[in-house]
Amino acid sequence: MSPTLFRMLLRSTVAAWLLATSTASSAAPQDDRSPDARARRWVAELTLDEKIGLVTGRVGADYNGTPKPVGSLGSAGYVAGVPRLGIPALQITDAGLGVTNPPVTLTQRSREGDVATALPSVMSTAATWDPQRAYANGALMGAEARAKGFNMLLAGSINLVREPLGGRNFEYPGEDPLLAGVIVGETIRGVQSQGVMSTIKHFAINDQETDRFVYDARIGEGAMRESDLLAFELGIERGRPSAVMCAYNRVGGEYACENSHLLTDILKTDWKFPGFVLSDWGAVHSTAKAANAGLDQESALEFDSRPFFGDALKQAVRSGAVPAARLDDMVFRILRSEIAAGVVDTPAVPTAIDFSAHAIVAQQSAAAGIVLLKNDRGLLPLSSTVRSILVIGGHADKGVLSGGGSSQVTPPGGYGLVETPPGLPPAAAAWRSTYYLAPSPLAAIRAAVPGTTVKYLDGTDIVAAAAAAKKAAVVVLFAVQPLAEGADAKTLSLPDAQDALIQAVGEANRKTIVVLETAGPVLMPWLAKTPSVLESWYPGSSGAAAIADILFGVRSPQGRLPVTFPASLSQTPRPAMAASPASGVPSVAYIEGSDVGYRWQARHHTRPLFSFGFGLSFTRFAYSRLVVRGGDTIHAEATVSNTGKREGMDVVQFYAAPANGKGMKRLIGWTKVSLKPGESRSVGIDADPRLLAAYDMAARRWSVPGDPFIVTVAHDAADIGLSAMTRVAPSSIATP
Ligand code: BGC
Repeated sequence: MSPTLFRMLLRSTVAAWLLATSTASSAAPQDDRSPDARARRWVAELTLDEKIGLVTGRVGADYNGTPKPVGSLGSAGYVAGVPRLGIPALQITDAGLGVTNPPVTLTQRSREGDVATALPSVMSTAATWDPQRAYANGALMGAEARAKGFNMLLAGSINLVREPLGGRNFEYPGEDPLLAGVIVGETIRGVQSQGVMSTIKHFAINDQETDRFVYDARIGEGAMRESDLLAFELGIERGRPSAVMCAYNRVGGEYACENSHLLTDILKTDWKFPGFVLSDWGAVHSTAKAANAGLDQESALEFDSRPFFGDALKQAVRSGAVPAARLDDMVFRILRSEIAAGVVDTPAVPTAIDFSAHAIVAQQSAAAGIVLLKNDRGLLPLSSTVRSILVIGGHADKGVLSGGGSSQVTPPGGYGLVETPPGLPPAAAAWRSTYYLAPSPLAAIRAAVPGTTVKYLDGTDIVAAAAAAKKAAVVVLFAVQPLAEGADAKTLSLPDAQDALIQAVGEANRKTIVVLETAGPVLMPWLAKTPSVLESWYPGSSGAAAIADILFGVRSPQGRLPVTFPASLSQTPRPAMAASPASGVPSVAYIEGSDVGYRWQARHHTRPLFSFGFGLSFTRFAYSRLVVRGGDTIHAEATVSNTGKREGMDVVQFYAAPANGKGMKRLIGWTKVSLKPGESRSVGIDADPRLLAAYDMAARRWSVPGDPFIVTVAHDAADIGLSAMTRVAPSSIATP
């Protein structure tokens, strides 16, 4: 990002933030049409029962034999409004990859026939390193939500990838707080640009699926503030989400949704968050404790062990266990957010969606997220006159893989394949199936090269696949890693016999291109045998076309890894995930603290398979003339030159590390730039000083030491790049 753009964004963010944080208690005169004033008037007019209604959510679809609430559209959540005052009902839908339609059975959805654009995974969007793409994805989801009559989207997953095995890694934006904050913040800004409220979630340290409802995340406060919470802090500043969803797990011994330190001390006090906190589905465990800790709305009470708000909260308010003023604050925060987001004044009206136009946006995003990991002898891009292509594996004749769980979207082109585990009742079968989204990569490849013979083998017979590969001019081999919310991967290896298949095919044909469709990192024991590897993640409903675009050079690969690909699990902080204890509370010790991913690798001097930030292009880029200035923060500039033969996009990354070795390097900014062959450009960044600071717990502020920093411009986190030293003035910073 250019320094000017950074400064503009910072200014507009701060200005908007000041507006957003002005509350009823502010001494400044209030416009009586302001969201604060209007929300305050409503709070004064509401009865106790009405207030309780506004803080108590229901499942928005038929659930466990209970029909959906009257008026709800059929989705994850519903909160009744107060028609006599014009307070709208909240029609709440998942989620981060598009508007979902919860399954009832394998063939039935909550809203029959209702489809939505399935965007690439959040991991893929993070791999674009492109704030504008993230915004475009958010705006698309917001527009589709609105067109379907929804006024709240459960988007904004921003948990850091601490576990390479994490089952929801595809929903998460990688391992770096700055990249996560920018990408998710921009996505939320995009959603809310459509007059639809968005969440940011899951607050906090919801970084694995094993024991997800109960585990206790053990991490020091300073480390937490400098990692997962920093991602939230930056994402909230940029995206200004209407709501924060508190997580299932415990943090420091307390459930996240009744954790007053997280919800009140940090979120609402230190960060001055003006919106409301709603619970994850089934994450509430108490009434007075949760309400007093800062939970403002119980979501989908049917998911909790019993309803904790509703009548129970009413009793707690009557008895004084929850102060009436606290209930008023809960209601005020919800109503103020609704008014500020525009859902009161410009209600969502169902309209038609232009899915063809949205498919193009999804294709551009998916292509921008594809990371070229290896390309020996310039095998890619393929020539359109290639004689024959053998496509193998990954159900590439049916569709592209998608991630399972609450974010699973029912796409416009339908499913090419649904793989269902045997023996499950209908609803469980629907939730636990693996869905491949049509159209297929095979069809996209055939469409791209109509003059070429393109054959397909499913790869189950490895010997036959290798024999056929020998005869083909080129092989494109698809490999998949199906993962879903609710369960972590058991190993970092590709499942089934895919590694053996790739090895055999790679040995049979030296022109083998591997296309990965994975949630996050996987091992590649066959890497030496395969000249080209593309990571396409879960690329969404336009994924097949995006993959073909990269294979044939219609677009240049421009993605960079948002997550480290370790060479083995032993390189990670927890090589084996803690097994669930027979009794008591399972806990996860985050021994890496804030040294997540590439910082952990740097601390241990290990060499990953592929480092954070890594990604090739069809051309090459070189850096020169690094200029670094200190002062209040670090300003860094460098010249990037396209030294290859094709036009391409580079992500110029700037890292900083304390020169005294007390602390690992961290990403402090980047610029994405498009250059023609031979073209050079000077690019630069201004670091957010919090990225240079340690969190001082006693002062509850960020403390920037006056020590020198080594600043590096590099192609990825492990690249030595070019370095220079500078000094930053010592300072102490609160959240702006
Ligand atoms: C997930 C949330 C989701 C909610 C509603 C939960 O299981 O953790 O991300 O928004 O369900 O579907």
